[in-house]
Amino acid sequence: MRRLTRTAVSTALRTATEHGVTTSASVVSQRNHNTDATTKKRVADDANSIEIRFIDRDGETHVVRGFVGENLLETAHRNDIELEGACEGSLACSTCHVVFKDEKVFDSLDEACDDENDMLDLAYGLTSTSRLGCQVTCEKGALDGCEVVLPAATRNFAVDGYKPKPH
Ligand code: FES
Repeated sequence: MRRLTRTAVSTALRTATEHGVTTSASVVSQRNHNTDATTKKRVADDANSIEIRFIDRDGETHVVRGFVGENLLETAHRNDIELEGACEGSLACSTCHVVFKDEKVFDSLDEACDDENDMLDLAYGLTSTSRLGCQVTCEKGALDGCEVVLPAATRNFAVDGYKPKPH
């Protein structure tokens, strides 16, 4: 079988492309181009996001932007804030427990549902302005610029061995 030089191969590919022939090389190139376009990072701006100030366990404040429509757990994870979220937002843990510093901001939130309140009852360091981060959605208004404190510890009963009692 005749072997083609590298130059001959690239000339053949260029000629094929010029004549509208799809080659595996051009498919790969097009796929890479499409992947680049679809994986472009969404940029947070004033129109599509709000400011959230996470205060970590060391008291350090991290000012980040939360996209309108995502929850605080997602915002935290996207910005490398250490908020656990063991059950990934399925209301089966309390490791995404957060505390709102401002009572007015807390009062502006939609009320927690019964399942959230049940999980909050298990949260370490529960306060009167506690919520589960995965249940609070970023939206324009009072939440913009809010301060959210991460409790000193979390209680993950799945790991810590806690067994909920039947009601
Ligand atoms: Fe488990 Fe929020 S991540 S309840």
